[in-house]
Amino acid sequence: HTPAKKPPPMSILEVGGVPLPISSNEIWDKISKFEARPDDLILATYPKSGTTWMQEILDMIQNEGDVEKCKRAISLDRHPFIELTFPFKKKYDFEMALEMPSPRLLKTHLPSHLIPPSVWRQNCKIIYVARNAKDCLVSYYHYHRMTTLLPDPKSLEEFCQKFMSGEVAYGSWYDHVKGWWAAKDKHQILYLFYEDVKKDPKRETEKILKFLEKDIPEELLNKIICYTSFDVMKQNPVANYTALPTSIMDHPISPFMRKGMPGDGKSFFTVAQNEEFDKDYQKKMAGSTLTFHTEI
Ligand code: A3P
Repeated sequence: HTPAKKPPPMSILEVGGVPLPISSNEIWDKISKFEARPDDLILATYPKSGTTWMQEILDMIQNEGDVEKCKRAISLDRHPFIELTFPFKKKYDFEMALEMPSPRLLKTHLPSHLIPPSVWRQNCKIIYVARNAKDCLVSYYHYHRMTTLLPDPKSLEEFCQKFMSGEVAYGSWYDHVKGWWAAKDKHQILYLFYEDVKKDPKRETEKILKFLEKDIPEELLNKIICYTSFDVMKQNPVANYTALPTSIMDHPISPFMRKGMPGDGKSFFTVAQNEEFDKDYQKKMAGSTLTFHTEI
């Protein structure tokens, strides 16, 4: 048994036209050959769309509301990313996944066309969470400011241009949300919206339970919603990313659990920026049946 190699610092590799934070072609090759199991549950998102939030909801469901079990490790160590590994980790996330007992919950930010084929072959259940573009952009901008894992975003104006042209890690938000929207008609995908979960967490959690063919008592459902609310998660050291060294994430610059509020994004834009963004948005989303709420 050879000890796992420590992942090198992140760099951006272009795969199928998408900039991904993956260190080498060799690693991408291993990721694309990742062996999914039929009982894997996959949580797919574009970055900053509520991944960590949904992870807590799903962990609470899988552990039947046992808070102690949900606090067994920080969120990064509880559920591996299929493709992503933070550089301070001792081994790659896909190696960590290999050693995990079933049923696994695996995260991914990959666009649907780059998902390892075994996920489709095994017909895994997938939960996709989408968040409206402006809120996602602003959240991503602040995340770039506070983490050394991603480049300095410079001004919001400059970051906005990059976001619109898809020159950010994981590429175009527009292609991501549309790609998964189309994929849901062919695969077992529950497509959720961040704004809906915020507006009516009970109804959305019930949708998840139905999708997972689970039935839980009302009391447990209420417990899950309370435990995964923004205010409770913000104080939860295994969910709020404060356990990482400040050299990786500097929360005083901008906390990981920042606002958690739909509609927050657009207030960062000037009138002219809003107009330019909206015009470009209409073009990129034209012909799609996918619609977002920006307020709740
Ligand atoms: P903001 O920066 O807008 O506050 P991800 O986990 O995909 O990186 O997403 C992070 C975003 O989800 C952040 O958005 C964070 O505050 C928000 N978030 C995390 N937990 C949440 C919760 N329980 N309720 C609402 N938003 C939450």
